[in-house]
Amino acid sequence: MKFFVDTAEIDQIRELNDLGMIDGVTTNPSLIMKSGRDIKEVTKEICGIVDGPVSAETVALDAEGMIAEGRELAKIADNIAVKVPLTWAGLKACKTLTDEGRMVNVTLCFSANQALLAAKAGATFISPFIGRLDDINLDGMELIADIRQIYDNYGFETQILAASIRSANHMSEAAKIGADVATAPAAVIKAMANHVLTDKGLEGFLKDWEKTGQKIL
Ligand code: G3P
Repeated sequence: MKFFVDTAEIDQIRELNDLGMIDGVTTNPSLIMKSGRDIKEVTKEICGIVDGPVSAETVALDAEGMIAEGRELAKIADNIAVKVPLTWAGLKACKTLTDEGRMVNVTLCFSANQALLAAKAGATFISPFIGRLDDINLDGMELIADIRQIYDNYGFETQILAASIRSANHMSEAAKIGADVATAPAAVIKAMANHVLTDKGLEGFLKDWEKTGQKIL
């Protein structure tokens, strides 16, 4: 499973990229707002750090507006994936932009039917939001499994990009189901390294090591 980091914070992107942990980046208008940076400037900087796809989101509501914004965002760098919302207008924009050879990430997906339409429109990525479904007492992970089954049934090549990931557990569950990509905040990716037994084991080893009075260096 590929990892994308869901942020527009340069330090976080650089740290994870240097470690070889990430294969791309996703941003959205809320993350751009949090960064306090100009969208084109920060996106260009991100594209200079990461080789893989960097999602930049349109904000128009009509297809023509999304297409125009998508073309403008795609000028930033070759690795831009234009992000459009899963509305009828977004699907039209997806078809036009993918026909032009651009990567398109269709976002705000909350149902299997929406994911089916995005695949028909040629999306490069479909972004089902796990956490936001869990927030309203629905099962976000079940949606990932449904889309996996449907795409496999028909050989759709659209990549499932599990989004709105809130915990390390979401990452492993998405991987077990076979999501192609998971995008998560840097803190969630780092939290995957944590285990209480690792901490406990390390504490025990260090206590015994002290008793030996030895040094390695
Ligand atoms: O990739 C979409 C993601 O940013 C949404 O996450 O936590 O705001 O639902 P969240």
